[in-house]
Amino acid sequence: MLVALAGVVKAQDVDLGGPFTLKAQDGRTFTEKDLAGRPYALFFGFTHCPEVCPTTLGEISVSLSELGTVAEDFRVVFVTVDPERDTPERLKEYLGWFDERIVGLSGTVEEVAVMARAFKATYRKVPTSGGNYTMDHTALIFLMDRHGRFFDKVAYGEHQESQFRKIRDLIAVR
Ligand code: NI
Repeated sequence: MLVALAGVVKAQDVDLGGPFTLKAQDGRTFTEKDLAGRPYALFFGFTHCPEVCPTTLGEISVSLSELGTVAEDFRVVFVTVDPERDTPERLKEYLGWFDERIVGLSGTVEEVAVMARAFKATYRKVPTSGGNYTMDHTALIFLMDRHGRFFDKVAYGEHQESQFRKIRDLIAVR
C-alpha cells in the first residue's frame, strides 16, 4: 500500500541518508560505509507485500539487466519495514526471485526505524483478519548519487523505462 511522502524530494538538495547499521541477507553487517562512493537505489518494503514491493523489485531487476556492466558499482538496496518477519534468511529466500545483485537489509525494530528516519520514510502495521497484519509503507525509490546526495526519486506506478533512464543518469553523475 502507498503512503504519500508529503513535502519531501521536491528540491534537488533534499537532505536524505545518514549512518545506519543493518544486516544483509547473507548475515553480514551492512552500514552506510558499504554504499560510500557508489550510486545506489534504496527503497523500503516487506516480503509479504502483495503488490508494490514485488512489482518494484521486478522492475528494478529489469533495469539492472538492461544496464548490464554499466551498473557495476551501482547498488540496489531493499530495506524491510517488517523486521519481525523479514529475517536475513527470509530476505535471502525472497530476493532469490529477483536480480541477485539486490541487497536486502533487516535489523532490529529500532535499527530499521533509524534507517527510515534517515530517508524520511514512513510505515505502519495494519491489522488484518485472523490476527495477522500487513504494512503500509512509503513506496518511493530513492536514487542517491556517488557523493551521497539525493539525485531523484521513482514513484510507484512510474513506467519501468522512466526508472531505467533515471538510474542510467544517476550512474553517469561523477
Ligand atoms: Ni510493499
